[in-house]
Amino acid sequence: MSIAIAIDGPAGAGKSSLSKEVAKELSFIYVDTGALYRTIGLAASRKGLKKEDKAEIISMLNDIDVKLSFNDEGTQIVLLNGEDVSSFIRTPEASMFASAVSAIPEVRAFLLDLQRNMAKSDNVIMDGRDIGTVVLPDAKIKIFLTASPEKRAMRRHKENIEKGIDSTYEEVLKDVNQRDYQDSHREIAPLKPAEDSVLVDTSDYDFEGSKELLLRVIKERM
Ligand code: C5P
Repeated sequence: MSIAIAIDGPAGAGKSSLSKEVAKELSFIYVDTGALYRTIGLAASRKGLKKEDKAEIISMLNDIDVKLSFNDEGTQIVLLNGEDVSSFIRTPEASMFASAVSAIPEVRAFLLDLQRNMAKSDNVIMDGRDIGTVVLPDAKIKIFLTASPEKRAMRRHKENIEKGIDSTYEEVLKDVNQRDYQDSHREIAPLKPAEDSVLVDTSDYDFEGSKELLLRVIKERM
């Protein structure tokens, strides 16, 4: 039987960078499910659709093929109709589009099996918003990883600058608060800790400290 670790939490809590490191340490496969929602958002925006065009976004699902794959370094890549779109899905605009499409039940259903299948044969650390509550309710370990909105915004802002993306702290904080609100107030699969999850708050830790904390919490439960 393969082992699954679910890591949920709000944007900017360090889920992906920490999960990646922990996966390496434990020799697990790291699956970033946000990339899937971002890819649906990208497909919609490439089609010229707007976030409000719910019916068109749903019908677009019949025409697209989304797959997760891994490159030679073991890094996840996401394929939209066979094209590697991993580098197009990280912009602030793609983030907002992803958050909007993720509130559509049909989009969530479209991505459900793909996510579940990843955990069937391999040991995975899967990060997202509803992994412990909906996608992998039987995950062995469930973590709700969070940090204050201000800390999360400051980390995202620094990351943007490092990547050469235009960014101001105030704008990122507004974005973080808006996405938190959207993700936790949607009707379907809202962002909330699973009842049997462990809350890990990284507000007062730097990256190395957060990694140690997370690894300790996981190893204690393996
Ligand atoms: O994790 P990331 O910031 O890349 O996710 C982008 C958006 O996708 C989130 O704001 C959220 O709305 C959505 N998402 C989701 N469920 C997941 C993963 C991401 O609704 N499991």
